[in-house]
Amino acid sequence: MHGFFDVLIRHGTVVDGTGAPRFSGDVGVRGERIAAVGDLSASDASRIIDATGLAVAPGFIDSHTHDDRLLLSAPSMEPKVSQGVTTIIGGNCGVSLAPMPDGMRAPVIAPLNLLDAQGGWFRFRSFAQYLDTLRAQPAATNCAMLVGHMTLRIATMKDLERAANAQEILAMQLMVDEALDAGAIGVSTGLFYEPAAAATTEEVIQVCRTLGRRGALYCTHMRDEGDGVMQSLEETFRIGRETGAKVVVSHHKVVGRANHGRSRQTLDFISGQMKMQPICLDCYPYAASSTVLSAQRAAIASRVTVTWSEAMPEYAGMDLADIATRMGVATDEAIRRLLPAGAVYHSMDESDVQRILAFGPTMIGSDGLPHDQVPHPRLWGSFARVLGHYSRSLGLFSLETAVHKMTGLTAANFGLADRGLIAPGAYADIAIFDPATIDEGATFEKPVAPALGMHSVLVNGEPVWEHGRASGARPGRVLARSS
Ligand code: ZN
Ligand code: CU
Repeated sequence: MHGFFDVLIRHGTVVDGTGAPRFSGDVGVRGERIAAVGDLSASDASRIIDATGLAVAPGFIDSHTHDDRLLLSAPSMEPKVSQGVTTIIGGNCGVSLAPMPDGMRAPVIAPLNLLDAQGGWFRFRSFAQYLDTLRAQPAATNCAMLVGHMTLRIATMKDLERAANAQEILAMQLMVDEALDAGAIGVSTGLFYEPAAAATTEEVIQVCRTLGRRGALYCTHMRDEGDGVMQSLEETFRIGRETGAKVVVSHHKVVGRANHGRSRQTLDFISGQMKMQPICLDCYPYAASSTVLSAQRAAIASRVTVTWSEAMPEYAGMDLADIATRMGVATDEAIRRLLPAGAVYHSMDESDVQRILAFGPTMIGSDGLPHDQVPHPRLWGSFARVLGHYSRSLGLFSLETAVHKMTGLTAANFGLADRGLIAPGAYADIAIFDPATIDEGATFEKPVAPALGMHSVLVNGEPVWEHGRASGARPGRVLARSS
């Protein structure tokens, strides 16, 4: 095929995102879309990228993030574009930046403080106002956003320690409708967390009752990922059935030593239930979790590292046990003094992580926490680690499968039209990397580092990462769900 392109990626190995075997070929981009794929040796372009020896894949879709504020406060999105991520799903775990009609005062209730402990960023009175701001000040990546049930509870309820009453449910329903009208792709919950733990299954069903009809999703950080994980899966699937919504089980895992190995049971149940109703799940590629610091979570972990502390920032990056020793107090007292704070918890079994990652329907999501002082390395490393450590080094699955789990599968699950594929007509979201060297640069010791082996990254046809740094371009869009 002849022609002139804006960007021509030559001599690459195309891994197209469908899971199909890789093939050699050129990719021609015109404007924001891929115009041709194949032998384009007779063509020319304003800009030519020589991809000899490199993989050319669809840009990765981070199926689980807390980037609601990062999109605005650090729009070059380095933790994401440096590892090939071109689209993020935000507003997860019940935590969204909007709507907050009356604003928020410091200190912000955990876990909403993952987005901003000071409260100033909770300034969007409606979801429409938030999305309009994202459109007016685009980031380097695309985004598709969920509205968080915990945010809705905090915006509508004075007493969070009980189930919502009829009037509060009505207020939340109106906010869900407003968010969906504005372009939200669904609702998230974080029933594990204190501000939502008192919500009954019925409350969630009521708040989410229009999701199915409107083609929107229900994404959940479940009530229990430990001893009660099976009951939590049952609750999640019931909410899906009663609202008619497709459900996404967020960062699927089993925590606590007593539950090691139970992913066999959870995956059996999930795959059986998938035959009855639409279910998706995502996973981050680490055996350590990260969220706000709490005594309850610390108690079941073999090791806890503090990632940030509003009260005592000097302890960020240190192990909780060492902090308690240095303070000369018990760990519970050390936790009390550090709060509000965040932590990394080593509390999973590596074979569970691998079993969940290798499960066919599992998508990759980072669950990265971009505002932590010493973040869990999943923020900068998740996608590169799946390609390098889990696919190439351990051989857990092929490169084609790894790419599918972060592109085509995710786009189909979230209804992101013309994303996640290398094909004529698809948007030119493209990651070009060396399959022999791609790997995480971030470690627990040094968690802020770009991926190794990432050559260049395009979003809507524009380079956002090249020569080892962000280009400064901000071609990202707010994506809607096409049902
Ligand atoms: Zn979560
Ligand atoms: Cu999360």
